[in-house]
Amino acid sequence: MDSTNRLWYRDAIFYEIPVKSFYDSNNDGVGDFKGLTQKLDYLAWLGIDCVWLLPFYKSPMRDDGYDISDYYFIQPEYGTLDDFDEFVEQAHRRGIRVIADLVLNHVSDQHPWFQEARNPNSPKHDWFVWSDTDKKYSQARIIFVDTEKSNWTWDPIAKQYYWHRFYSHQPDLNYDNPEVREEMKNVVRFWLKRGLDGFRCDAVPFLFEREGTNCESLPETHAYFKELRSMVDKEFPGTILLAEANQWPTEAKAYFGNGNDEFHMAFNFPLMPRMFIALAKEDRTPIVDIIKQVIPIPENCDWGTFLRNHDELTLEMVTDEERDVMYHEYVKHPKMRLNLGIRRRLAPLIDDDQNTIRLLHALLFSLPGSPFLYYGDEIAMGDNIYLGDRNGVRTPMQWSPDRNAGFSKCDPEQLYTPVITNPIYHYESRNVETQSRLSSSLLNWLKEIIRVRKKYSDVLGRGEIRFIDHPNLKVFAFIRSYKGKSMLCVNNLSKKPVAVELDLREYVEWTPIEAQTSVPFPKIGRLPYFFTLSPHAFFWFKLTSPTGDTW
Ligand code: NOJ
Ligand code: CA
Repeated sequence: MDSTNRLWYRDAIFYEIPVKSFYDSNNDGVGDFKGLTQKLDYLAWLGIDCVWLLPFYKSPMRDDGYDISDYYFIQPEYGTLDDFDEFVEQAHRRGIRVIADLVLNHVSDQHPWFQEARNPNSPKHDWFVWSDTDKKYSQARIIFVDTEKSNWTWDPIAKQYYWHRFYSHQPDLNYDNPEVREEMKNVVRFWLKRGLDGFRCDAVPFLFEREGTNCESLPETHAYFKELRSMVDKEFPGTILLAEANQWPTEAKAYFGNGNDEFHMAFNFPLMPRMFIALAKEDRTPIVDIIKQVIPIPENCDWGTFLRNHDELTLEMVTDEERDVMYHEYVKHPKMRLNLGIRRRLAPLIDDDQNTIRLLHALLFSLPGSPFLYYGDEIAMGDNIYLGDRNGVRTPMQWSPDRNAGFSKCDPEQLYTPVITNPIYHYESRNVETQSRLSSSLLNWLKEIIRVRKKYSDVLGRGEIRFIDHPNLKVFAFIRSYKGKSMLCVNNLSKKPVAVELDLREYVEWTPIEAQTSVPFPKIGRLPYFFTLSPHAFFWFKLTSPTGDTW
């Protein structure tokens, strides 16, 4: 691991893992830290630079660990603190960094803090947000609209309402209380001391609430994260904070602060749905328009780009018209919808079309930002829409055609959730072992494209982006450039072949060299440069100057 690379996160490929879903080392049906450690060689083989662990802290698991009942303890099925330490050490040995979820906004109602707080005379009462009415903060939206009717829930013991932005069993902490602010810093210290490389901070916009606002991204919330950043910089230099702030571009960008005083990274929620909208409409405009709104950002910061994650594909920050396009194109059954989103994995979302899966990854790896992969999407895993909540996209990782997809040797009925046996996505064919033996598989293709992205990580990771304007909206072409090096990326967003002429006159006499294969294409001349692309195809070209170059 290169500890001199202060901006490591700008060059990294991230991979998101729920501990329970990856590998079960003791055959009790639940994945664990020892299992994760055993699979590190796989992640290294794939080219992953940093793992993002979903919450692994003690929890009653009513929101898959985002409902924490002890921040200093590991969920027993996942292992022990020693197992965690061993995992981090073994990851670091392989040059892989580890970040973890940090749930600041709320705790489980089973947390002793909340249990104590229910007594209005206890010192912990003020650690939560109470009210005698359920009318305060009425401009705050409800997030889990399918389950919650209000952000307030009556507590018969306290005889007051308590505030919660998510499930009613997840009371919000009161960040106006200095003890809360300090305690959560201690949580951060506890885990960073154990060697973590940073945090994915959950539900960032919601820490503070103020009457007359929508209670999102308030100045007080930014101020707290600035405090946290300054503590982290001082005590744990080199570690990062990544914001989960599902907001419109201006509000999302604000989390970078001045570039040095708030978050290092933020998820690019504005971009994610618009890649799918662009595909549905066969029109590059949604992507181009949104990227123009989310750049530039400070040099020391980067977007975390992603196609899918462990939640529903959220459609909160799109227009009504855009949401309709998404539902029309991607929802084939009412069970595929959840809240304001679509609960599907990547492959089933796009009808398992291999060209489209590759095109989407090509966009992920060539647009500005550091890519985040979701476990299992590298083998085009399927989902199970008949499991409740978001559990359908959290099924056991498919390692081999063996029992339980090679995830666990337990009896199948003991698994925390069933493996995917749908005929299209059945684990007997869709698994790591089978795909690694097949040179044309998605897994091997992805490994190769990760290698190419890393080879050009200066240009593709840090370069600026310039869009090439031309009348055929189905073709999305742009130039990435960094310190005199340029790459041309051309994408066909359409289900049909296209022919296109691009004005590349500023590169007259330069030679495009296809980046994956190093095959030289004809030199660029004064006339428009002519391309044909098959359905959903893409090209990445390294542009080589007439004098030749060495990169
Ligand atoms: C966002 C997480 O990604 C989601 O899984 C969780 O339910 C909510 N935050 C509440 O913590
Ligand atoms: Ca286990």
